[in-house]
Amino acid sequence: MTNLTNLPAWKALQAHHDAVKDVHLRDLFAGDATRGERLTAEGAGLYLDYSKHRVTDETLNLLLQLAQETGVAAKRDAMFGGEKINITEDRAVLHVALRAPRGATIMVDGKNVVPEVHEVLDRMAKFAEQVRGGQWLGYTGKPIRNIVNIGIGGSDLGPVMAYEALKHYSDRALTLRFVSNVDGTDIAEKTRDLDPEGTLFIISSKTFTTQETMTNAHSARTWLLNTLQDDAAVARHFVAVSTNAAEVQKFGIDTANMFGFWDWVGGRYSIDSAIGLSLMLAVGPDNFREMLAGFHDMDEHFRTAPPEQNLPLLMGLLGIWYNNFFGACSVAVLPYDQYLAYFSAYLQQLDMESNGKHVTLSGETVDYQTGPIIWGQPGTNGQHAFYQLIHQGTKLIPCDFIGFCQTLNPLPPHHDLLMANVFAQTEALAFGKTLEQVLAEGVDPALAPHRVFDGNRPTSTILADRLTPRTLGSLIALYEHKVFVQGAVWNINSFDQWGVELGKVLAKKIAGELESKGEPELKHDSSTNTLIRRYRERRDA
Ligand code: F6P
Repeated sequence: MTNLTNLPAWKALQAHHDAVKDVHLRDLFAGDATRGERLTAEGAGLYLDYSKHRVTDETLNLLLQLAQETGVAAKRDAMFGGEKINITEDRAVLHVALRAPRGATIMVDGKNVVPEVHEVLDRMAKFAEQVRGGQWLGYTGKPIRNIVNIGIGGSDLGPVMAYEALKHYSDRALTLRFVSNVDGTDIAEKTRDLDPEGTLFIISSKTFTTQETMTNAHSARTWLLNTLQDDAAVARHFVAVSTNAAEVQKFGIDTANMFGFWDWVGGRYSIDSAIGLSLMLAVGPDNFREMLAGFHDMDEHFRTAPPEQNLPLLMGLLGIWYNNFFGACSVAVLPYDQYLAYFSAYLQQLDMESNGKHVTLSGETVDYQTGPIIWGQPGTNGQHAFYQLIHQGTKLIPCDFIGFCQTLNPLPPHHDLLMANVFAQTEALAFGKTLEQVLAEGVDPALAPHRVFDGNRPTSTILADRLTPRTLGSLIALYEHKVFVQGAVWNINSFDQWGVELGKVLAKKIAGELESKGEPELKHDSSTNTLIRRYRERRDA
């Protein structure tokens, strides 16, 4: 493929950027009374207002041309078609198969994978009904009331985010906990008030070899057996979600209580697979299936909606406009819903593990920026923390505001106030306040500069009617496909994560050195050696 920066659309965007970079949103809105209705798109239950972006019709045309020249649509079809687009691991990328309806056909290596997907979903549903209905009993005959998911990365962030997001729909008689950190404090605090006789551990790990998860799983086993005193109890209190049956068996979990998935499901794309078991236990199989339907709605929208109406395509391209032409380094994701408290943290892995890459598919070092830094907090808390910098700082930070028209907790006037803040923030960020306006308010001229808001800060507003399982599915899929679009344009592999390997390997080696009494290996640098020595001295003091 031609180098990205040599493509006609890229060059045209560069020239166009030079011409429009100082155009203000005030002028764009003043010049087009319909902009706020025109620059919107809708699909899969989500409404996107992208009018408060620093784009003209020409910008949008050029960005769509860039998508064409980089073959985004063909790459999308290759993913949906089960081609092995994860070339460094020789794998298909088929999270879209996890939410394909029964009866659909998606072929990998000559085999339709959809029936297997539904087979696992049906087994999960059966198990979930047993636990929720109190029929799945612990070793001493008590029903399971506490569920602890042990996993990390994609085997934790998806379940915990979606559980929090859908708490309104959950069975409040069940206590859900999520343990991820290898820091013993995590498991100690999450189990300290639980009754082992009524506790079920779900060990969620695609590989079943991840250090953090296996360490926590072993500690959970010890915690359980301290009370139950019989290895046979493990079978009633542990289930596994993994692709690695051999390791599951080695741990002592009956593979009859293992829920599988496949190598074509990436960790950060696995919430729809058996990795979502804890969520299904909490909200029930029907709500879980509704969520899958929402994902599928967005898959279909992404696959079939025309480019100028295609939400993930538009969001991906707008991100590229700021990342590659304005030099913006980060994107703030600001959900105005307390249930979405973990959404930005979830997106950090989805986006940054996917697109934090420095070489193209063919291994050449890129000469352009790739994935942005993703961060954020639920509104309105962030307003009283970091919004100052977004409004008046020196950095350009495009923001995604996410809100719902109906609340799940009607408690007037809370929801109107919450949504008033969404609209106020995006308005203030776009239009700001000029020196003239400040002076006209009678502010002391010496202080006036401090009160000026330049505005021209770009935002997307995503509105949905209500936070339902289905809406949540659409929303997550929107971001999955946004990430896909950007990776496709940048011509990188969004589906491997070699960047986390080096640290893992070194940690394993150093863990051995921390255990031994001998001198740290002199192969480390002098800083690492001194730190290891000091830690060991102080630890054992
Ligand atoms: O962070 C690296 C990673 O491989 C993620 O991609 C994955 O979600 C996580 O570790 C956990 O891996 P596993 O599910 O195999 O324990």
